[in-house]
Amino acid sequence: MSSATSSSPLDEVILRHLPDWQDQPLNLVAPPGDFRLAALTPATAGLKKRLWSADYRQLNPASQAGWTPFFVSDRQPEHLDGRSLLFWPKAKEEGYWWLQELMPRVGEGLYLLGDNKGGIKAAAKALEKAGFQLHKVDSARRCSLYYLHKDASLSLPLEPSHEVISGPDQLQLCSLPGVFSHGRVDEGSLLLIAALRESWQELPQQGRLLDIGAGGGLLGAWMLHQGSELELTACDVSGLALQATRQTLELNQLKAEVQAADIFTGLDLSKPVDLIITNPPFHTGRGTDYELASRLIREAPQHLKPGGQLWLVANRFLPYPDLLDAAFGGFKRRAETGKFTVYQAVK
Ligand SMILES: C[S@@+](CC[C@H](N)C(=O)[O-])C[C@H]1O[C@@H](n2cnc3c(N)ncnc32)[C@H](O)[C@@H]1O
Repeated sequence: MSSATSSSPLDEVILRHLPDWQDQPLNLVAPPGDFRLAALTPATAGLKKRLWSADYRQLNPASQAGWTPFFVSDRQPEHLDGRSLLFWPKAKEEGYWWLQELMPRVGEGLYLLGDNKGGIKAAAKALEKAGFQLHKVDSARRCSLYYLHKDASLSLPLEPSHEVISGPDQLQLCSLPGVFSHGRVDEGSLLLIAALRESWQELPQQGRLLDIGAGGGLLGAWMLHQGSELELTACDVSGLALQATRQTLELNQLKAEVQAADIFTGLDLSKPVDLIITNPPFHTGRGTDYELASRLIREAPQHLKPGGQLWLVANRFLPYPDLLDAAFGGFKRRAETGKFTVYQAVK
């Protein structure tokens, strides 16, 4: 969420309605990562307002701007009085997951807001087909705002499910809507696992292991499942990913710390790290974004012990070799396919 006060299409649509929305609390649910909450601050000054989010980075700025934050993997609001507005996410399974969570908590209904290119219109159609009453409240800046009437007798067009899927070496994985590679195991992550397996003897055997951008918990859980005695901290910026990671650990009777973090920010790094494993994020919203992986590579040597290792898998086209050279003074390619490369860098 940007701290800039300039506006974007989604907040402009909300701003058009805020003069009429001063009589009740306002609850914003699942705003996208680049949503500019600050643009709403003057127009919501007198309102009781809550933000329910799956993005760890949104919590502090929201709280500083007077919103009561709820992080999806920590604390859920029991009841949402006032107006609730769900930002329809790109992944429809995640949208229905949020609707399932919201329906029992709201009064008569809720607003749905989304970019027309992001599936909001298809969701509105599907909800109408399932029998829900919906009306279009606004259409501007290539966004649509609907009001959805709650009806407890109806089922959602798609019932989001917690799936348990099979991972490598009989590892059980919890797969949640809205979490990376829902319903499948990522090919790049599997390549990293194969490379780690092959180099098992070279890996630190004791100390601290970080799985950065843990998603459903695959990489860190696999290490423990293989018998690694490293102390695992699995971290992710997404509260949905943290929920999935906790469940993956539980399914396999493994113990680890599961922690919300923005790459390294938010982690207790007073104790240095022996091994970092990661399939780092390279998307923010709809675009490719190297900033997160660049930050991870740049800052990793500060947190690793001398001799500590970073293992990273990425699409071959991503410009990580230069970054690894600059941060570590060298690296090795430990596995490669037409699509992915596994890099190892040692401090
Ligand atoms: C490519 S996925 C890898 C998931 C998992 N490790 C796997 O191999 O299946 C990248 C993960 O990074 C997380 N992520 C995105 N931005 C992040 C950030 N700023 N800090 C930490 N994690 C982030 C995403 O939520 C996603 O779960």
